[in-house]
Amino acid sequence: MIFIKSPCSSYCFSSNHIFAPFANPCLTVGRQNRKSSMKILLLGGGGREHAFAWKISQSPHCTKLYIGPGNPGTATCGENVPLDPEDNAAVHDFVLENGIQMVVVGPEAPLVNGVWNYLRKFRSTSHVAVIGPSMQGAKLEGSKAYAKKFMQDFNIPTAGYREFFATRPASALSFLKKKATLPIVLKADGLAAGKGVVICQDRDEAVAEMAEMLGGKFGSSSRKVVVEEFLSGIEFSVFVLTDGDSYKILPVAKDYKRIGEGDTGLNTGGMGAVSPPPFVDAVMMKKVEERIIKPTIAGLKQRKIEYQGFIFIGLIKVGDDPFVIEYNVRMGDPETEVALPRLKNDLVELFMAVRDRRLSEVKIEEDERAATTIILASGGYPGNFPKGKAITGLDKTEGSIIFHAGTKTVGNQLVTSGGRVMAVTSLGKTFRDALAVSNKNAAAIQFEGKYFRGDIGFDL
Ligand code: AMP
Ligand code: GLY
Repeated sequence: MIFIKSPCSSYCFSSNHIFAPFANPCLTVGRQNRKSSMKILLLGGGGREHAFAWKISQSPHCTKLYIGPGNPGTATCGENVPLDPEDNAAVHDFVLENGIQMVVVGPEAPLVNGVWNYLRKFRSTSHVAVIGPSMQGAKLEGSKAYAKKFMQDFNIPTAGYREFFATRPASALSFLKKKATLPIVLKADGLAAGKGVVICQDRDEAVAEMAEMLGGKFGSSSRKVVVEEFLSGIEFSVFVLTDGDSYKILPVAKDYKRIGEGDTGLNTGGMGAVSPPPFVDAVMMKKVEERIIKPTIAGLKQRKIEYQGFIFIGLIKVGDDPFVIEYNVRMGDPETEVALPRLKNDLVELFMAVRDRRLSEVKIEEDERAATTIILASGGYPGNFPKGKAITGLDKTEGSIIFHAGTKTVGNQLVTSGGRVMAVTSLGKTFRDALAVSNKNAAAIQFEGKYFRGDIGFDL
């Protein structure tokens, strides 16, 4: 019998546990403190969704939480249901049959796929609150060319760019051969599972990559390619929750995308994260808010785009100024695993405020402590990796919250089922204190081929 140590199990909520639920909801106005009973459906099944499920399950406003499809971690916070988040009709039927009042969308694909629009279309589900934008809003992530044009139109600082099309490959190749300044960044326009961005150091490489992309390397996602000026600096992620009128800024984070220590090797979904990154001070956040967040929200409004959800702004600090690298229309993974543990507010109350367009009444309360997370990955990731390896040692961990990502249970045994297997999150007075705990517990959990970066935070 294995023991799945979960942040949502009752033992984890013991009074001396560092992750006991926060008793003090931070909304300031009376009406919203009224307890309401709500059935919530959370879509997704990774570490981000376990962090969401962990936080949602702490709210007295949530009487029933379903996670579709979820993972063994989310199963300890609510009920997993075998639902494909990208099957709009199945989501609609589930919502209807189970009296769901709120759908929280974890990943981007269902949003780009129009889950918001689908539920809104039917009278039977049009009243259901969806935390996540409409298909039109999701284009900020679903099309890099759309996002670049949006930033250009609203004067939001970002790298200069040009667009090229599969119908006219010669102009793309000639630009790269003769005019482009090196290094140069090539981005498939559509979703490409985090693999659609290539930074090219020389012209031959750029020409070859462009030919492959326009030739269908990422299917229809690379029939259009954005070519972007290379920006040099340190990256960080800002998370905004908006009700379409006002917005709130959530805890800032920095993730570590490369597989290898010292930020080397292939890009991954993210190998670890730190919140807050010490180099993001109040002066920088003021610039981000004035130059980027306010014009983004105003732009969405001006375009009459329905947007009630998260905006994840990937930023790069060039000198002392922030530039947008990308928009995502969801929370980050593994950034959520450090942002939510630092958020003191009741998350469901925040979602209710989004639904009711009264987010301006809310005060965000952040834990003063730092949070870090370390991803345990399957050996071989982000390339090919084996699955089904038995996971042990969770009962040897102490003081961390273990969010499941690529895990499943076979009988009573927890086994690996994905590239990123678990996120080991800890809180500490400083990020170094938190990292010491995450590192110790990352070492205690065992599975064949386990890999993790021992240098998260090395550059801070
Ligand atoms: P994206 O999918 O747009 O976030 O890009 C993936 C990664 O590529 C980013 O996190 C950056 O590290 C890098 N990147 C993207 N665009 C640029 C750029 N214009 N300059 C430098 N690095 C970039
Ligand atoms: N960690 C980066 C992302 O979620 O896109």
